[in-house]
Amino acid sequence: MSETSAENPQSIAVVTGGTRGIGRAIVDELVEQDYHVVVTYRSSEKSAQDLRDLLKNKVTVKRTDVSKQNEVDELFDAIEQKYGRVDVLVNNAGITQDRSFIKMDSSDWKHVIDVNLNGAFYCSKRAINAMQKQNSGRIVNISSIVGQQGNFGQANYAASKAGVLGLTKTLALENARKGITINAVCPGFIATDMVGAIPEEVKEKIQNGIPMRRFGEAKEVAKAVGFLVSKDSAYITGQELNINGGLLTH
Ligand code: CAA
Repeated sequence: MSETSAENPQSIAVVTGGTRGIGRAIVDELVEQDYHVVVTYRSSEKSAQDLRDLLKNKVTVKRTDVSKQNEVDELFDAIEQKYGRVDVLVNNAGITQDRSFIKMDSSDWKHVIDVNLNGAFYCSKRAINAMQKQNSGRIVNISSIVGQQGNFGQANYAASKAGVLGLTKTLALENARKGITINAVCPGFIATDMVGAIPEEVKEKIQNGIPMRRFGEAKEVAKAVGFLVSKDSAYITGQELNINGGLLTH
């Protein structure tokens, strides 16, 4: 973790899509590590309010559509104005619009790429700008096993998550001498609403194919993110950390 200045004693983390699922568990982990966490959400007002009520002054929860560059710019302008720094960015916001490729139309394709990949681009651009001035920072991108090996019905999502891996490795190279580490975690199938929405018979097939025979917990991903933002991971950059119950990737 980076050093903080005397005027800004608290480290600032940004977690996109952090009111539910894996993002929510990451927020808990970072709050536990004493970060003030700026959490974005797009549509789930209720879970946003629940998070504000529960964590109060430990978080700032702001509606931001990461697929819109102007909204991302507004978010980071506000953070920089208030805190003057960005120590951690977790690009977590992600959506699926699953359909076999033959049925997938260009809006299914564009929407998923816009949120999952372009959103990571817009946020990383602003965070790296701030981190280079500080000469410190940590970015963790939430990719997926689907970005490593593809998945039936997920051409758009797989392409977006593979894109996130390419972005991770390139930004890691460009920032290795600037005190900034950039890594990706690749969750397998984690028990969240996203996996809950998979048709029952497909879900059963997936679960039977996981060596551990269970879906992962959001907390199990959050702990890995917690390690990658900690000072113990200072020599790790440009890597993919697989959290998938033993599913082999190739
Ligand atoms: N493997 C092999 N065959 C499959 C299949 C699969 N996973 N899913 C569907 N098929 C087959 C069907 O059995 C059918 O075969 P027949 O024509 O021989 O009957 C054929 O493909 C076409 O089926 P559909 O008409 O139902 O296909 P569709 O275009 O409507 O798409 C689907 C169906 C959207 C792919 C649906 O099966 C589905 O939602 N599958 C789950 C996708 C998935 O795994 N999503 C992961 C979400 S979690 C996540 O993304 C998080 C993460 O990072 C891991």
